[in-house]
Amino acid sequence: MEKLPFGGTSVYAQVVKIDATSVRSGFPSLTRSVDGRAAAYLDGPGGTQVHASVIDAMAGFMARGGSNLGGPFATSHETGAVVADARAALADLFGARPHEIVFGQNMTSLTFSLSRALSRTWSVGDNIVLTKLDHDANVSPWMQAADAAGVAVRFVDFDPERGCDLDLDTLDAALDDRTRLVAFTYASNAVGTVTPVDEIVERAHSVGALTYVDAVHYAPHGRIDVTASDTDFLVVSAYKWFGPHTGCMYGKEDLLSAIEPYKLRPAPETSPDRWETGTQSFESLAGVTAAVNYLASLGSGATRRERIISAYEAISVYEAELAERFLSGIATMPRVTLLGHTTPTSRTPTFAIDIEGITPDDVATRLGDLGCFVWAGNYYAYEVMQRLDRSEDGLVRVGFVHYNTIAEIDRVLAEIEALS
Ligand SMILES: Cc1ncc(COP(=O)(O)O)c(C=O)c1O
Repeated sequence: MEKLPFGGTSVYAQVVKIDATSVRSGFPSLTRSVDGRAAAYLDGPGGTQVHASVIDAMAGFMARGGSNLGGPFATSHETGAVVADARAALADLFGARPHEIVFGQNMTSLTFSLSRALSRTWSVGDNIVLTKLDHDANVSPWMQAADAAGVAVRFVDFDPERGCDLDLDTLDAALDDRTRLVAFTYASNAVGTVTPVDEIVERAHSVGALTYVDAVHYAPHGRIDVTASDTDFLVVSAYKWFGPHTGCMYGKEDLLSAIEPYKLRPAPETSPDRWETGTQSFESLAGVTAAVNYLASLGSGATRRERIISAYEAISVYEAELAERFLSGIATMPRVTLLGHTTPTSRTPTFAIDIEGITPDDVATRLGDLGCFVWAGNYYAYEVMQRLDRSEDGLVRVGFVHYNTIAEIDRVLAEIEALS
């Protein structure tokens, strides 16, 4: 079996290939230009472009005549079907079951909601474990819930000298029989490091702690399998994988039923609906289904889940080629420092760099003027920047997804070289 760049092995003898020209023709915004230069969207980690089928699905929902859930008429029944379809789509994306899928405004809001609810089960003397590799959306909500419940917070460190890998010794040191939760990222939205999810879940479960995995950054790049990893919760945001601004959470069925969410009267008593506060963005849910179907369309197989798995294999092979190109170019530039893994293995194609003598903000602004859209600052990877001693200015972030091309990488490398 073929070894895949982000870990895992191919289950298909023949990996489907990404055809960048055909992929790009499905994204209307990729034809945009800046002062006569084609726009290079290298800001995928901040949010990807939206596939045409997603735009059509969202507009179609509104054009047909939408309505709220629960009415005894056609449009309401159709809205019910939109929600059910979206749950089924996410279940296929995660390797889960539809009633284990909860939707919400975004990942941050879902995390605040779950953290408040879960903290009702914690007692003084308990502790929770977070990591320094995480986006703050998987740190602050838990810290605030812990503070309100009188629960200690412990941090897992990462090693800047070793690809910014999580230091699992510090995880072991943090865990004990009073640990209630380990919340950690699947991949860093700053330095791209992918974490050993299965192993962390296993260690957390060995002391009886629940796990909450932030897969927001990982989801456009690699296959998720909540059943294989056995995580209790996992969360993604569809705008990071070619869809609309909607958060999607997986939770084990028994936990979604047992934990008491904050909700209105008379909110639904049954999960997952009782976790969904207020009226959902139904047009976005139509878009979420279309985004999953778009991903699946890149792969082959008899079922949608099989096509998703096959698509991620193709994506990870293609993105590893992009990453290789970028890494070998950056390695020739003495005034550019790269934080994180220097090979495409165990990382996403998301790169945090520093150019000697120019602030990250200046770099991003100058590249932006040239039509290369990259980010600068901390992108809410607050703990990461503290640990890397970059909390003042942050770092430049250049990120690729499968609609980016080798030509775009050569172009941004040339612009970075000209600046350095
Ligand atoms: C790794 C990671 N986690 C969480 C978030 C927050 O997601 P949302 O905007 O859906 O709240 C982001 C957003 O950039 C992210 O990159």
